[in-house]
Amino acid sequence: ERGGYDHYMLKEINEQPEALERTINGRITDDGRVALADFPPGTFDEVSEVHFLSCGTSHHASMYAQQLLRDRGVPAYAFTAGEYATTPAPVSEDTLVIAVTQSGETADTLASLRSANERGARTLTVTNVVGSTAAREADEALFIRAGPEIGVAATKTFTSQVAALLLVVERLTVDITGTPSEDSEAVLTALRELPDAVDRLIGSSIASSLAPRYAGSEQHFFIGRGVAYPVACEGALKLKEISYEQAEGFSAGELKHGPLALVTPETPIVAVFTGKHDTKTLNNVEEVRSRGASVIGVAPESADHVAAAVDEFLPIPDTNPDVAGVLANVQLQLVSYHVANVLNRSIDKPRNLAKSVTVE
Ligand code: M6R
Repeated sequence: ERGGYDHYMLKEINEQPEALERTINGRITDDGRVALADFPPGTFDEVSEVHFLSCGTSHHASMYAQQLLRDRGVPAYAFTAGEYATTPAPVSEDTLVIAVTQSGETADTLASLRSANERGARTLTVTNVVGSTAAREADEALFIRAGPEIGVAATKTFTSQVAALLLVVERLTVDITGTPSEDSEAVLTALRELPDAVDRLIGSSIASSLAPRYAGSEQHFFIGRGVAYPVACEGALKLKEISYEQAEGFSAGELKHGPLALVTPETPIVAVFTGKHDTKTLNNVEEVRSRGASVIGVAPESADHVAAAVDEFLPIPDTNPDVAGVLANVQLQLVSYHVANVLNRSIDKPRNLAKSVTVE
Protein backbone atom coordinates (compact mmCIF):
# COMPACT_ATOMS: atom_id res chain seq x y z
CA GLU A 1 0.00 0.00 0.00
CA ARG A 2 2.98 2.30 0.52
CA GLY A 3 4.03 1.38 -3.00
CA GLY A 4 7.42 0.05 -1.94
CA TYR A 5 8.31 3.11 0.13
CA ASP A 6 9.20 2.82 3.82
CA HIS A 7 6.79 5.60 4.74
CA TYR A 8 3.75 7.32 3.31
CA MET A 9 5.62 10.58 3.69
CA LEU A 10 8.31 9.47 1.24
CA LYS A 11 5.68 8.07 -1.11
CA GLU A 12 3.81 11.38 -1.02
CA ILE A 13 6.99 13.39 -1.57
CA ASN A 14 7.60 11.26 -4.65
CA GLU A 15 4.01 11.72 -5.84
CA GLN A 16 4.44 15.47 -6.12
CA PRO A 17 5.15 15.61 -9.87
CA GLU A 18 1.85 13.85 -10.66
CA ALA A 19 -0.05 15.77 -7.99
CA LEU A 20 1.19 19.04 -9.46
CA GLU A 21 0.20 17.87 -12.95
CA ARG A 22 -3.34 17.40 -11.69
CA THR A 23 -3.35 20.74 -9.88
CA ILE A 24 -2.51 22.70 -13.02
CA ASN A 25 -4.12 20.43 -15.61
CA GLY A 26 -6.32 22.51 -17.93
CA ARG A 27 -5.78 25.62 -15.82
CA ILE A 28 -3.04 27.29 -17.92
CA THR A 29 -3.58 28.07 -21.60
CA ASP A 30 -0.94 27.37 -24.25
CA ASP A 31 -0.28 31.07 -24.61
CA GLY A 32 0.45 31.38 -20.90
CA ARG A 33 -2.75 32.66 -19.29
CA VAL A 34 -4.73 31.43 -16.30
CA ALA A 35 -7.84 29.40 -17.19
CA LEU A 36 -9.83 28.62 -14.05
CA ALA A 37 -13.24 27.36 -15.17
CA ASP A 38 -15.12 28.70 -12.14
CA PHE A 39 -13.16 31.94 -11.99
CA PRO A 40 -13.11 33.55 -15.46
CA PRO A 41 -11.47 36.96 -16.03
CA GLY A 42 -13.35 39.64 -14.11
CA THR A 43 -14.45 37.30 -11.30
CA PHE A 44 -12.58 39.36 -8.73
CA ASP A 45 -13.04 42.87 -10.20
CA GLU A 46 -14.71 44.16 -7.04
CA VAL A 47 -12.13 42.81 -4.60
CA SER A 48 -10.01 45.43 -2.83
CA GLU A 49 -8.14 43.33 -0.30
CA VAL A 50 -7.38 39.65 0.36
CA HIS A 51 -7.27 37.84 3.73
CA PHE A 52 -5.92 34.31 4.02
CA LEU A 53 -7.04 32.09 6.93
CA SER A 54 -5.19 28.86 7.65
CA CYS A 55 -3.09 26.84 10.09
CA GLY A 56 0.30 25.14 10.11
CA THR A 57 1.59 24.16 6.70
CA SER A 58 -1.45 25.67 5.00
CA HIS A 59 -0.59 28.97 6.68
CA HIS A 60 2.84 28.82 5.09
CA ALA A 61 1.24 28.29 1.67
CA SER A 62 -0.94 31.32 2.41
CA MET A 63 2.09 33.41 3.42
CA TYR A 64 3.69 32.43 0.13
CA ALA A 65 0.65 33.75 -1.77
CA GLN A 66 0.57 36.87 0.40
CA GLN A 67 4.15 37.75 -0.57
CA LEU A 68 3.33 37.29 -4.26
CA LEU A 69 0.19 39.42 -4.12
CA ARG A 70 1.95 42.24 -2.30
CA ASP A 71 4.73 42.11 -4.90
CA ARG A 72 2.03 42.62 -7.52
CA GLY A 73 0.43 45.59 -5.76
CA VAL A 74 -2.54 43.74 -4.21
CA PRO A 75 -3.17 44.26 -0.45
CA ALA A 76 -2.95 40.79 1.11
CA TYR A 77 -2.73 39.51 4.68
CA ALA A 78 -2.16 35.92 5.83
CA PHE A 79 -3.62 35.30 9.29
CA THR A 80 -3.33 32.21 11.45
CA ALA A 81 -6.91 30.98 11.70
CA GLY A 82 -6.84 30.38 15.45
CA GLU A 83 -6.09 34.06 16.05
CA TYR A 84 -8.49 35.31 13.39
CA ALA A 85 -11.28 33.32 15.05
CA THR A 86 -10.78 35.28 18.28
CA THR A 87 -9.49 38.60 16.94
CA PRO A 88 -10.81 38.92 13.39
CA ALA A 89 -9.60 41.70 11.11
CA PRO A 90 -12.29 44.08 9.85
CA VAL A 91 -13.80 43.06 6.50
CA SER A 92 -16.18 44.58 3.96
CA GLU A 93 -18.04 43.05 1.04
CA ASP A 94 -14.95 43.88 -1.07
CA THR A 95 -12.73 41.72 1.11
CA LEU A 96 -11.98 38.31 -0.39
CA VAL A 97 -11.34 35.88 2.44
CA ILE A 98 -9.53 32.71 1.33
CA ALA A 99 -9.55 29.73 3.70
CA VAL A 100 -6.63 27.49 2.74
CA THR A 101 -7.09 24.02 4.24
CA GLN A 102 -6.01 20.66 2.90
CA SER A 103 -8.66 18.70 4.81
CA GLY A 104 -11.35 21.35 4.78
CA GLU A 105 -12.14 20.25 8.35
CA THR A 106 -9.70 22.16 10.56
CA ALA A 107 -11.73 23.64 13.42
CA ASP A 108 -9.75 26.88 13.73
CA THR A 109 -10.02 27.51 10.00
CA LEU A 110 -13.75 26.75 9.94
CA ALA A 111 -14.37 29.06 12.92
CA SER A 112 -12.55 31.93 11.22
CA LEU A 113 -14.28 31.22 7.90
CA ARG A 114 -17.65 31.39 9.67
CA SER A 115 -16.70 34.69 11.25
CA ALA A 116 -15.85 36.09 7.81
CA ASN A 117 -19.11 34.74 6.35
CA GLU A 118 -21.18 36.25 9.17
CA ARG A 119 -19.56 39.64 8.73
CA GLY A 120 -20.38 39.79 5.02
CA ALA A 121 -17.03 39.11 3.37
CA ARG A 122 -16.82 37.16 0.13
CA THR A 123 -15.33 33.75 0.91
CA LEU A 124 -13.38 31.20 -1.09
CA THR A 125 -11.73 27.98 0.07
CA VAL A 126 -8.68 26.38 -1.51
CA THR A 127 -8.90 22.76 -0.39
CA ASN A 128 -8.03 19.19 -1.30
CA VAL A 129 -11.31 17.60 -0.26
CA VAL A 130 -14.44 17.83 -2.37
CA GLY A 131 -17.50 17.85 -0.12
CA SER A 132 -15.52 19.01 2.94
CA THR A 133 -17.08 21.42 5.42
CA ALA A 134 -14.97 24.31 4.13
CA ALA A 135 -16.05 23.56 0.55
CA ARG A 136 -19.69 23.57 1.62
CA GLU A 137 -19.54 26.68 3.78
CA ALA A 138 -17.41 29.02 1.66
CA ASP A 139 -19.12 30.93 -1.16
CA GLU A 140 -16.73 29.38 -3.69
CA ALA A 141 -14.16 26.57 -3.79
CA LEU A 142 -11.01 25.77 -5.75
CA PHE A 143 -9.76 22.19 -5.46
CA ILE A 144 -6.05 21.49 -5.43
CA ARG A 145 -6.45 17.86 -6.65
CA ALA A 146 -3.36 16.60 -4.82
CA GLY A 147 -4.95 13.21 -4.13
CA PRO A 148 -5.28 11.63 -0.68
CA GLU A 149 -2.49 12.40 1.79
CA ILE A 150 -2.03 9.82 4.56
CA GLY A 151 1.13 11.01 6.32
CA VAL A 152 0.40 13.49 9.09
CA ALA A 153 3.13 15.72 7.68
CA ALA A 154 1.71 17.74 4.79
CA THR A 155 3.97 17.48 1.73
CA LYS A 156 2.27 17.12 -1.62
CA THR A 157 -0.68 19.15 -0.43
CA PHE A 158 1.64 22.08 0.34
CA THR A 159 3.17 22.09 -3.14
CA SER A 160 -0.26 21.73 -4.74
CA GLN A 161 -1.66 24.51 -2.55
CA VAL A 162 1.10 26.87 -3.62
CA ALA A 163 0.63 25.91 -7.29
CA ALA A 164 -3.14 26.51 -7.07
CA LEU A 165 -2.59 29.77 -5.20
CA LEU A 166 -0.14 30.94 -7.88
CA LEU A 167 -3.00 30.64 -10.37
CA VAL A 168 -5.33 32.54 -8.02
CA VAL A 169 -2.65 35.21 -7.53
CA GLU A 170 -2.32 35.80 -11.27
CA ARG A 171 -6.11 35.91 -11.72
CA LEU A 172 -6.51 38.34 -8.81
CA THR A 173 -3.71 40.54 -10.09
CA VAL A 174 -5.29 41.00 -13.52
CA ASP A 175 -8.77 41.54 -12.07
CA ILE A 176 -7.71 43.97 -9.33
CA THR A 177 -4.88 45.95 -10.92
CA GLY A 178 -6.15 45.73 -14.52
CA THR A 179 -2.94 44.23 -15.92
CA PRO A 180 -1.10 40.93 -15.60
CA SER A 181 1.98 40.96 -13.41
CA GLU A 182 5.20 41.83 -15.19
CA ASP A 183 6.41 38.24 -14.92
CA SER A 184 3.03 36.57 -15.42
CA GLU A 185 4.06 34.63 -18.52
CA ALA A 186 7.37 33.54 -17.05
CA VAL A 187 5.69 32.45 -13.82
CA LEU A 188 3.03 30.41 -15.60
CA THR A 189 5.63 28.82 -17.88
CA ALA A 190 7.69 27.92 -14.81
CA LEU A 191 4.56 26.48 -13.20
CA ARG A 192 3.96 24.28 -16.24
CA GLU A 193 7.54 23.04 -16.01
CA LEU A 194 7.35 22.52 -12.25
CA PRO A 195 6.30 18.83 -12.23
CA ASP A 196 9.40 17.92 -14.28
CA ALA A 197 11.63 20.12 -12.17
CA VAL A 198 10.36 18.47 -8.96
CA ASP A 199 10.98 15.06 -10.51
CA ARG A 200 14.57 15.98 -11.38
CA LEU A 201 15.15 17.43 -7.92
CA ILE A 202 13.91 14.32 -6.13
CA GLY A 203 16.07 12.13 -8.37
CA SER A 204 19.24 14.09 -7.66
CA SER A 205 18.84 15.30 -4.05
CA ILE A 206 21.76 14.72 -1.71
CA ALA A 207 19.60 15.33 1.39
CA SER A 208 20.00 11.72 2.58
CA SER A 209 23.79 11.99 2.78
CA LEU A 210 23.59 15.35 4.57
CA ALA A 211 21.05 14.23 7.19
CA PRO A 212 23.33 12.08 9.41
CA ARG A 213 25.71 15.02 9.88
CA TYR A 214 23.02 17.36 11.20
CA ALA A 215 20.62 15.04 13.04
CA GLY A 216 20.96 15.61 16.78
CA SER A 217 22.23 19.21 16.62
CA GLU A 218 21.26 21.43 19.54
CA GLN A 219 18.85 23.39 17.34
CA HIS A 220 18.23 24.25 13.70
CA PHE A 221 17.37 27.67 12.27
CA PHE A 222 15.82 28.28 8.87
CA ILE A 223 15.93 31.71 7.22
CA GLY A 224 14.69 33.32 4.00
CA ARG A 225 13.18 36.50 2.53
CA GLY A 226 10.14 37.07 0.30
CA VAL A 227 8.66 33.69 -0.63
CA ALA A 228 11.74 32.03 0.88
CA TYR A 229 10.51 33.23 4.31
CA PRO A 230 7.39 31.01 4.42
CA VAL A 231 9.49 28.20 2.92
CA ALA A 232 11.95 28.61 5.81
CA CYS A 233 9.05 28.49 8.31
CA GLU A 234 7.69 25.39 6.61
CA GLY A 235 11.12 23.73 6.63
CA ALA A 236 11.34 24.26 10.39
CA LEU A 237 7.78 23.08 11.04
CA LYS A 238 8.36 19.90 9.06
CA LEU A 239 11.62 19.15 10.86
CA LYS A 240 10.18 19.65 14.35
CA GLU A 241 6.99 17.78 13.52
CA ILE A 242 8.57 14.54 12.34
CA SER A 243 12.06 14.49 13.90
CA TYR A 244 11.30 16.26 17.24
CA GLU A 245 14.45 18.32 16.69
CA GLN A 246 14.38 21.90 17.94
CA ALA A 247 13.84 24.04 14.83
CA GLU A 248 12.67 27.59 14.13
CA GLY A 249 12.05 29.55 10.94
CA PHE A 250 12.68 33.29 10.74
CA SER A 251 12.58 35.98 8.14
CA ALA A 252 16.29 36.46 7.47
CA GLY A 253 16.14 40.10 8.57
CA GLU A 254 14.73 39.23 12.00
CA LEU A 255 17.66 37.05 12.96
CA LYS A 256 19.75 39.90 14.29
CA HIS A 257 16.85 41.23 16.39
CA GLY A 258 17.10 38.43 18.96
CA PRO A 259 17.51 34.89 17.67
CA LEU A 260 21.17 35.57 16.79
CA ALA A 261 21.92 35.37 20.52
CA LEU A 262 21.19 31.63 20.33
CA VAL A 263 23.49 30.95 17.39
CA THR A 264 26.52 28.79 18.27
CA PRO A 265 28.67 26.33 16.30
CA GLU A 266 25.98 23.79 17.31
CA THR A 267 23.27 25.64 15.34
CA PRO A 268 23.11 24.63 11.69
CA ILE A 269 21.37 27.37 9.69
CA VAL A 270 19.42 26.49 6.59
CA ALA A 271 19.28 29.54 4.31
CA VAL A 272 16.75 29.51 1.47
CA PHE A 273 17.40 31.43 -1.77
CA THR A 274 15.21 31.90 -4.83
CA GLY A 275 17.20 34.31 -7.00
CA LYS A 276 15.41 37.37 -5.54
CA HIS A 277 16.82 39.23 -2.51
CA ASP A 278 19.82 36.89 -2.38
CA THR A 279 22.39 39.57 -1.57
CA LYS A 280 20.67 40.60 1.65
CA THR A 281 20.24 37.02 2.79
CA LEU A 282 23.92 36.40 2.07
CA ASN A 283 24.72 39.19 4.54
CA ASN A 284 22.74 37.29 7.16
CA VAL A 285 24.66 34.14 6.26
CA GLU A 286 27.88 36.03 7.00
CA GLU A 287 26.49 37.10 10.40
CA VAL A 288 25.93 33.50 11.48
CA ARG A 289 29.06 32.04 9.95
CA SER A 290 31.17 34.53 11.87
CA ARG A 291 29.60 33.00 15.03
CA GLY A 292 30.87 29.59 13.94
CA ALA A 293 27.56 28.21 12.66
CA SER A 294 27.45 25.96 9.59
CA VAL A 295 25.20 27.14 6.80
CA ILE A 296 23.28 24.88 4.44
CA GLY A 297 22.25 26.90 1.39
CA VAL A 298 19.24 25.82 -0.65
CA ALA A 299 19.38 27.73 -3.93
CA PRO A 300 19.06 27.50 -7.73
CA GLU A 301 21.86 25.37 -9.16
CA SER A 302 23.41 28.26 -11.08
CA ALA A 303 23.72 30.43 -7.94
CA ASP A 304 27.51 30.22 -7.69
CA HIS A 305 27.59 33.24 -5.36
CA VAL A 306 25.51 31.26 -2.87
CA ALA A 307 27.46 28.02 -3.34
CA ALA A 308 30.67 29.91 -2.61
CA ALA A 309 29.33 31.43 0.61
CA VAL A 310 27.87 28.38 2.38
CA ASP A 311 29.21 25.18 3.97
CA GLU A 312 26.81 22.83 2.21
CA PHE A 313 24.98 23.53 -1.02
CA LEU A 314 21.65 21.91 -1.81
CA PRO A 315 20.82 22.90 -5.39
CA ILE A 316 17.37 23.15 -6.94
CA PRO A 317 16.70 23.35 -10.70
CA ASP A 318 16.87 26.91 -12.09
CA THR A 319 13.44 28.47 -12.49
CA ASN A 320 11.50 31.69 -11.99
CA PRO A 321 12.11 33.05 -8.45
CA ASP A 322 8.37 33.07 -7.62
CA VAL A 323 8.26 29.33 -8.29
CA ALA A 324 11.70 28.48 -6.89
CA GLY A 325 10.32 28.45 -3.33
CA VAL A 326 8.27 25.37 -4.16
CA LEU A 327 11.40 23.51 -5.25
CA ALA A 328 13.31 24.68 -2.20
CA ASN A 329 10.48 23.31 -0.08
CA VAL A 330 10.77 19.87 -1.69
CA GLN A 331 14.47 19.85 -0.87
CA LEU A 332 13.61 20.70 2.76
CA GLN A 333 10.95 17.96 2.91
CA LEU A 334 13.68 15.49 1.98
CA VAL A 335 16.06 16.90 4.61
CA SER A 336 13.37 16.52 7.32
CA TYR A 337 12.45 13.06 6.16
CA HIS A 338 16.03 11.78 6.22
CA VAL A 339 16.84 13.42 9.57
CA ALA A 340 13.75 11.80 11.10
CA ASN A 341 14.68 8.50 9.51
CA VAL A 342 18.22 8.62 10.93
CA LEU A 343 16.66 9.25 14.35
CA ASN A 344 14.23 6.39 13.79
CA ARG A 345 11.11 8.48 14.44
CA SER A 346 7.49 7.56 13.82
CA ILE A 347 7.47 9.54 10.59
CA ASP A 348 3.90 9.00 9.38
CA LYS A 349 2.31 9.40 12.81
CA PRO A 350 4.34 11.83 14.93
CA ARG A 351 3.53 11.86 18.65
CA ASN A 352 0.75 14.20 19.85
CA LEU A 353 -0.35 15.21 16.34
CA ALA A 354 -3.43 14.39 14.25
CA LYS A 355 -3.87 14.63 10.49
CA SER A 356 -6.94 16.76 10.86
CA VAL A 357 -7.32 18.96 13.95
CA THR A 358 -11.03 19.20 14.64
CA VAL A 359 -10.94 21.05 17.96
CA GLU A 360 -10.19 24.74 18.55
O1 M6R B 1 -6.10 20.37 6.83
P1 M6R B 1 -5.40 21.68 7.02
O2 M6R B 1 -4.60 22.11 5.85
O3 M6R B 1 -6.34 22.77 7.45
O4 M6R B 1 -4.40 21.43 8.22
C1 M6R B 1 -3.71 22.48 8.83
C2 M6R B 1 -2.61 21.99 9.73
O5 M6R B 1 -3.12 21.26 10.81
C3 M6R B 1 -1.60 21.12 8.98
O6 M6R B 1 -1.07 21.76 7.86
C4 M6R B 1 -0.41 20.73 9.90
O7 M6R B 1 0.34 21.86 10.23
C5 M6R B 1 0.44 19.65 9.20
N1 M6R B 1 0.41 18.42 9.93
C6 M6R B 1 1.88 20.04 9.01
O8 M6R B 1 2.60 19.06 8.34
